[in-house]
Amino acid sequence: MKTRVLMVCLGNICRSPLAEGILKSKADAERIEVDSAGTAGYHVGNPPDPRSVAIAKKYKIDISTQRCRRFSRADFDRFDHILVMDRANYRDVISLAENEAQRGKVRLLLEYTHSGLQEVPDPYYGGDDGFENVYRLIDEACDRLIEEL
Ligand code: 4NP
Repeated sequence: MKTRVLMVCLGNICRSPLAEGILKSKADAERIEVDSAGTAGYHVGNPPDPRSVAIAKKYKIDISTQRCRRFSRADFDRFDHILVMDRANYRDVISLAENEAQRGKVRLLLEYTHSGLQEVPDPYYGGDDGFENVYRLIDEACDRLIEEL
């Protein structure tokens, strides 16, 4: 049976598209399905932020064909693991959950790192170095995640 993983951030144009692309690059697609979504709907239908596309490309990952979508309650049934980038995402997703089983699927992605950080910082208003930092944090988390799946 496939394990289904959903990466979630606020806009679904910076962090979670990268997380989707990075985890897909490490995972066996026959065994693990990966998608991403945002808690907000500002950018629905848009491709990822060009800075996320560029940092992924630097590491030989193509995320340019992804399109932004909004997280919805139906995602609790479709996915086994819902991994959020920061505490605000956690609160927003948990607020839509209807039972303990759904709440139990939601975790901070950085629980899977030893970075000491709990949140993947939002790089949207910062410079390009923010995207490099985000890439490294997500990459480390995905290495550990893949060992557990
Ligand atoms: P993301 O970053 O949550 O990593 O996709 C953001 C993207 C867009 C906005 C905020 C954060 N925004 O305010 O439009």
